[in-house]
Amino acid sequence: MMTEPDPRPAFSDDFRAQLDRLFVWRRDVRHFRTDPVDPAVLDGLLATACLAPSVGLSEPWRFMRVDSPARRAAVRAEFARCNADALAARTEEDAARYATLKLAGLDRAPHHVAVFCDADPAQGRGLGRLTMPQTTVWSAVMAVHTFWLAATAAGLGVGWVSILDPQQIARIVDADPRWTFLAYLCVGYAQDPSDSPELERRGWERRDPARRAWIVR
Ligand SMILES: Cc1cc2nc3c(=O)[nH]c(=O)nc-3n(C[C@H](O)[C@H](O)[C@H](O)COP(=O)(O)O)c2cc1C
Repeated sequence: MMTEPDPRPAFSDDFRAQLDRLFVWRRDVRHFRTDPVDPAVLDGLLATACLAPSVGLSEPWRFMRVDSPARRAAVRAEFARCNADALAARTEEDAARYATLKLAGLDRAPHHVAVFCDADPAQGRGLGRLTMPQTTVWSAVMAVHTFWLAATAAGLGVGWVSILDPQQIARIVDADPRWTFLAYLCVGYAQDPSDSPELERRGWERRDPARRAWIVR
């Protein structure tokens, strides 16, 4: 009996080893060079992000490139305000350590991308969302991760900033009122590429080798 040829690309051992290195080197970046990214590369990465899976094929992610200096300055001010609140909420000893951390690359990153989710999109016709409406948000987060990995493969760094008030960011970038703010991404070339998280290098937190899957028998 004739069997159809397998249409999938054959991913080599070499490719898999490289892919593992990509996961290891994907980093949250807060120190950027200021040189801009080729617009075609950035567009390509945002298109790749849209290859992510989504509940009911709803594609609920909404990426907004924030190019306006005035809007960026407003986001920067909003971060400063929220970060000061976060600092004030800590104990004295903890606050001293927190204050030494750099938690955003907003000043130097050449590109800013605000990511929203349309939590109730017409696309997908509601499939898979009746019992778990949060799945649209999860789908949008998968697109962020896809973008993050693709950017790493392109030699770029991405920094996720969440020390922000979602409603203020939606107002500043003039987002559709039906959308939910998820992430503010700084994008550019990393100044200090590393294969370990900055929070680990700075002694704030360590990865837990026990964070693997449980086996349910
Ligand atoms: C949902 C989410 C929100 C985050 N928010 C921030 C943030 O506000 N500021 C920051 O410096 N890093 C933020 N990060 C980055 C994490 O601190 C970082 O992913 C973690 O320390 C592990 O480092 P790595 O991404 O380099 O492996 C965020 C990451 C995620 C997934």
